[in-house]
Amino acid sequence: MSIKTVVIPVAGMGTRFLPATKAISKEMLPVLDKPLLHYAVDEAKSAGINNFIFVTNISNNFPFLYLSKNISLEKHLKKKNKIKTLKILQSLTIQKRNIKLVLQKKPLGLGDAILRTQKYIKEEDFAVMLPDDLILGKSCLKELIKVFNKEKSSVLAAMQVESKDVSKYGIIKGNKVNSKMMKVSELIEKPTLKNAPSNLAVVGRYVLKNSIFRYLRKTNRGSNDEIQLTDAISVSAKNEKVFSFRFSGKRYDCGEKLGFLKAQIASALLDPELKKNIRSELKKI
Ligand code: G1P
Repeated sequence: MSIKTVVIPVAGMGTRFLPATKAISKEMLPVLDKPLLHYAVDEAKSAGINNFIFVTNISNNFPFLYLSKNISLEKHLKKKNKIKTLKILQSLTIQKRNIKLVLQKKPLGLGDAILRTQKYIKEEDFAVMLPDDLILGKSCLKELIKVFNKEKSSVLAAMQVESKDVSKYGIIKGNKVNSKMMKVSELIEKPTLKNAPSNLAVVGRYVLKNSIFRYLRKTNRGSNDEIQLTDAISVSAKNEKVFSFRFSGKRYDCGEKLGFLKAQIASALLDPELKKNIRSELKKI
């Protein structure tokens, strides 16, 4: 069976974007007129996903609100004949039965967040998306699922990063399969430059075999004293095939200010209305 469920962790405190994230959560920050969450959901839907599991903290109900039907707003738009906007909102809505919220009270890491979703995922294979990583262009998740279906093995999105940045990522050691794929032999979460086995970094899109839960249960705290998904995948790669895939889209790190700003400009350059003026406006600034 193909992948139908995605886990989207949204329990982070967004400390790098305070004070903006004091009253709204990080994935609700907009790039142009859509929150990061919206881009992730669109990418997932275009990859055939229809079940969404959000791992969230006690105060973050925003994904649920954003994806639920708002009857009074829809009535208002209808009355004002704002049909285009109405259609956008309607196409965003996800049925309540297809959204699950899982609580992560303490920030114990991405591995802990994923482990908490097992009660809903049961025996399925599934995808994980980190909404901070905005990927514009071709749906990255769709590309990964295609590889997953062919290889019947876990697949991670990967990209080359500069040496100065390897310590921000999970870094891949592996053997080349073709120009886009590696067979992963080991992953190291946030290595020093000296310990990094390559410059190939994991980006926040994963398609995982259900067996990952077995490995996660045995994973101890690692980098940053958190349970790291990277560590569990690395151990799994010793026993089963895991691949990395160089996706076609362009990724923006919206977890930091410069990346977020670049994402805004890149989106504006793709927007049919804004692109006419954005270059000259940027020059003026
Ligand atoms: C997480 C993962 C890391 C990955 C990165 C991609 O780190 O743990 O392996 O390379 O996302 O954005 P975080 O950025 O949450 O520290």
